[in-house]
Amino acid sequence: MGVIDIINNVKGDYVNKTRKSEQLYNELAKYTPYGVHSNWRIWDPYPLFMSRAKGSRIWDVDGNEYVDFCMAFGALATGHAHPVLIDEISSFIGNGTIYGFETEYSVKLSRILIDRFSMDMVRFSNTGGEATELATRLARAYTGRKYILKFEGHYHGSRDTLMVGLKPIPARAGHPKTPRSVPASWGVPEDIYRTVLVAQWNDEESVEEVFRRYGDEIAGVILEPIAMNMGFIPPKRGFLEFLRRITNEYGSVLIFDEVKTSGKFYGGAEEYFGIKPDIKVISKAIGGGFPFSAVLGKRDIMELVGPNKVAHGGTFNSNPLSVYATYVTLTRILTRDDMSKASALSEEIGKALNDILSDNKIPAYVVYAGLSGGAYLTRSKAELHNWRDFVKYVNLDAMYIYLTSMVSKGVIPQCIAPDEQWTVSVQHTKEDADKLVETAKHVIDLLKQSGYGEVFKIEEAF
Ligand SMILES: Cc1ncc(COP(=O)(O)O)c(C=O)c1O
Repeated sequence: MGVIDIINNVKGDYVNKTRKSEQLYNELAKYTPYGVHSNWRIWDPYPLFMSRAKGSRIWDVDGNEYVDFCMAFGALATGHAHPVLIDEISSFIGNGTIYGFETEYSVKLSRILIDRFSMDMVRFSNTGGEATELATRLARAYTGRKYILKFEGHYHGSRDTLMVGLKPIPARAGHPKTPRSVPASWGVPEDIYRTVLVAQWNDEESVEEVFRRYGDEIAGVILEPIAMNMGFIPPKRGFLEFLRRITNEYGSVLIFDEVKTSGKFYGGAEEYFGIKPDIKVISKAIGGGFPFSAVLGKRDIMELVGPNKVAHGGTFNSNPLSVYATYVTLTRILTRDDMSKASALSEEIGKALNDILSDNKIPAYVVYAGLSGGAYLTRSKAELHNWRDFVKYVNLDAMYIYLTSMVSKGVIPQCIAPDEQWTVSVQHTKEDADKLVETAKHVIDLLKQSGYGEVFKIEEAF
């Protein structure tokens, strides 16, 4: 059996189980371009449509139950419908949903965020993209400079200001050491995407080259402390320290986009790596499933926000529901203790998957830290250090087969996209982790029986 046959079989199983999703998708696609409201949510031949979720489980419209390790793209370290949150929010919502005024929880939550993520001041928004946009605006206002430096493959939201060098085709993206500023969307004006310089993740020379050429004009460097939109790619040892040094040397603002990492480690990336940026952007899991984001920063930078200075507004900013949900999540659910239990479970999954894959001689890169990790089936044995490695080594056919078969067997092992990762929530149990691992064993056996080894031989010659 060739790879196309395996893919067709796997797709057939998926379609047989998910007829209502197919129907809804076809109908939605009549009204909504691409049939989804976020481009990153698509899957072939169509994405699942869900109806309810609780704890570690989610159910689709056909009634299939899944153990969910996607957790809304990392937005739910609490797990689904956490009883504490449901209870608290149900009574809170009776007082109204939005006031257009601050509440006492604006004060309480500010204190908690400043303390937990150790920064001087904070501003609330709703989504990651809004917050990264404020962060870069602040960096430009603070330095009076034009350019933002980002890394190829890092994602900071789908706004014009940072939709550059996202997942470029290498042939269009220039030399790996001096990547071009490739716009990641139609409709982004050249004047805007040219203000974003791109360097290679984990490559000091690449960063030095950009600083050599533009150093005095670089307002800020923005990065995901662990790159989690091109798989799961941690910084090499010393790389964050290097970025701290070079930004200090050139007077540029160092921005950690912690939209994902703020909910993967109790104190976010600073606590895990021991490096302090000038600005942090936090979001996703800290909101317990409600839209909440915040920009935290050093006082002299943050105090630039104000009338006739740096603008920052939003009708839904600091809305009482999101603020209260975040307050409850951080004080009662994402505690240090419970997060470290979830981290241990994540590590257990990572180790077990690594063992299964290497026992079966399936080339793969398995990596984990905090509440997250990922398994990436590769063309040959390789570690992934940047976006070019991801393109070169990750076997997208193998990823499709793995993810789709796992889903058909009732486990969403990581988000259903080849470049995403898993999130272990505080509601996941050992039984859930075992189910993932047992199902993965089964899928890998099946793949081997259907000639998957042969497929790899072909790919290895690539
Ligand atoms: C690291 C990172 N930054 C920013 C964003 C954008 O967040 P949002 O989708 O809430 O705008 C995301 C979303 O996945 C992200 O992963």
